[in-house]
Amino acid sequence: MPSRGRTQRPPAPRSRRRPVDDGDSVSEAEIAVHWKEEEPVGPPADLAASLGPSERALRARFARLGFPECFRVYADLLTWEQPWTRTLDDSRPPFYRWFVGGRLNASFNCIDRHARRFPDRAAFRFVPEPPDEPVVTVTYRSLQRRVEETASFLRERAGVRMGDRVTIHLPMTPELPVTMLACARIGAVHSVVFAGFSGEACGRRIADSGSRVLVTMDAFWRNGRLLDHRPAAELAIATAAQDGQSVDHVLVWERYPGRYSSRTPPVTGRDALLPDALLEFAGRRVPPEPMPSEAPLFLMYTSGTTGRPKGVQHGTGGYLSYTAGTTRTVLDLHPEDVYWCLADIGWITGHSYIVYGPLALGATSVLYEGVPTFPDSGRPWRIAEALNVNVFHTSPTAIRLLRKLGPAEPERYRFRFRILATVGEPIEPQTWRWYYEAVGKRSAAVVDTWWQTETGGILCSTLPGLDAMKPGSTGPPLPGIDPAILDDRGVEVPDGSGRAGNLVLRTPWPGLMQTIWNDPDRFVSTYFARYNTDPKSRDWRRWPYFSGDGATRTADGYLRILGRIDDVINVAGHRLGTKEIESACLSVPDVAEAAVIPEADEVKGRVPVVYVSLRPGVSDPIRVTRDIADAIETQIGKIAQPKEVWVVPEMPKTRSGKIMRRVLSAISNRRDVGDVTTLADPAVVEEIRRLVQGAGAGPVRSRPSDPPRKRTGPR
Ligand code: PRX
Repeated sequence: MPSRGRTQRPPAPRSRRRPVDDGDSVSEAEIAVHWKEEEPVGPPADLAASLGPSERALRARFARLGFPECFRVYADLLTWEQPWTRTLDDSRPPFYRWFVGGRLNASFNCIDRHARRFPDRAAFRFVPEPPDEPVVTVTYRSLQRRVEETASFLRERAGVRMGDRVTIHLPMTPELPVTMLACARIGAVHSVVFAGFSGEACGRRIADSGSRVLVTMDAFWRNGRLLDHRPAAELAIATAAQDGQSVDHVLVWERYPGRYSSRTPPVTGRDALLPDALLEFAGRRVPPEPMPSEAPLFLMYTSGTTGRPKGVQHGTGGYLSYTAGTTRTVLDLHPEDVYWCLADIGWITGHSYIVYGPLALGATSVLYEGVPTFPDSGRPWRIAEALNVNVFHTSPTAIRLLRKLGPAEPERYRFRFRILATVGEPIEPQTWRWYYEAVGKRSAAVVDTWWQTETGGILCSTLPGLDAMKPGSTGPPLPGIDPAILDDRGVEVPDGSGRAGNLVLRTPWPGLMQTIWNDPDRFVSTYFARYNTDPKSRDWRRWPYFSGDGATRTADGYLRILGRIDDVINVAGHRLGTKEIESACLSVPDVAEAAVIPEADEVKGRVPVVYVSLRPGVSDPIRVTRDIADAIETQIGKIAQPKEVWVVPEMPKTRSGKIMRRVLSAISNRRDVGDVTTLADPAVVEEIRRLVQGAGAGPVRSRPSDPPRKRTGPR
């Protein structure tokens, strides 16, 4: 293991930004108390026997090579058109270049090299949501054909050139990875927007990335309904136009080829209906473009502390090496496995662990279109049984939901998993145990993988067959990764102290994002300024990566992630910025002030709750709450729908006028509000508390079709 003690430790950095209790941040002590260390569970014996030796050999090789050369182990999993000459160029931290001088193509690595060896192996088994529709097998050979045809269309009809950005707003059907890989084949940069995001959200991302081309679909299945997706595209194009970006080409895949399933007609001259429009490119070969290792592969927009989502930019060689390497070490994926990751490709988990990692290794993946509980909570287990899935990957939210709706369902089916992965949120020990016992039937290794959009791939997890598992704790860092927990002054919090702090990574790794698209200053200030002591320093030791997560580490080096310490709410494992939701609320003319806080939720982990105060003279607060819900849905999407909207007479504020979100959060979560005597008007806290808690009713979960629960206070 190179990550411990082999690098020179930087002098404990002093924070340039002094911590201020402005009421927004959750204190470290407050989050630490929730964590109780669990007894370790040994790795299943047969896995330990089969995997232990190879994993140990891998760790030994990493340790022998040392940082940064250890990452060659991952890069060696790929086929390089031109070998690299330098593993890491760290001359300009925090902008790093990996595998410098090398050239490769991501689509070649994910398709051609496997299609040559085993053309008829399934790359994907596509499972449509309607249970009566047959499973569609996409072999490596057919994937290559479809990618090449789409790539030639993009290049010849849509005029896409190397380096151009292409926005993709597609659901979970094979057309999504086909389009991504077609972009990669010709060196275009894809920017996939989760299909559940609204047209407006998509349009803002089109504008930020400067895409002239949008790829979408007419309709897709979600929870038993065929949703018309075309209006979202029109809204996206109109929104982008307002922001000065015109979209010249729209590629519309048909969910049912030849049967257009939308009420919005295609626009002549701008829209092309696929796959029909590909007929003239049938059989067309498009050689993969050998791209420099550091050429951007894709953008993925993610929420941060301001209202504007940031385009996280990932490169080709570093990212692909890291995802391939971690897919091998953590998921232990091999070509003979059948793997199913229930995430959506519209989020980073899907990019790294449905598309790039598994395909780079030549594995077979299940691609499921719909929601896991449709038509009932036995669906995932039926799919797993029918398709012989042996490596399964999902989020704590999905596990909680499946457990709640069908705790005994897994017993009814004859699947057998070897590895069970979880990602995206902290998992509570009782949920972990059900996953291990009911789903894993006590014979699978559970890997709780911690990472982020920005990190490209998994940074912390136990290795299956090698490490003991600890319910609720992600585990130790992966080989080559060097985390530390720092307090607000930059002093390291010792392992086993029971104290929490800010999780940072001391060394760079190949999966680390390259920059924020078009905003390198924001990249530096968001992720590195927090603990950097000398902005001019060229020494990477001075530039720890600030994750934005709070964490604690036990004496044996296992990390427990406690959640975000910034203005990000992790809803069902999906990142939403409170500021984004607040700005949607503020777009309603009658709203004077808005504050969004996370409330604990039994299934989703966290859900947003909105507090607003209204402008004087508003006569119909109920209507305003409805307008707020509409604004959030149109500007962001249904996933950001608040559980409750509270109209309060006044916001709790500091004397300098800052809204005390911490107080609102304590009220919604029924925690002690703490000392409020320093507030401008402490009485307001009690008034809000009575409004929210005195209401008596238990929590009401808002379903997508329901307006959120509304309450209004005295005006
Ligand atoms: O708070 C952490 C949480 O998810 C955040 C990253 O979200 P996103 O960029 O959308 O990527 C999600 C998929 C990697 C992190 O900052 N998170 C992720 N994995 C875990 C987690 N929290 C606890 N345990 C995890 N295993």
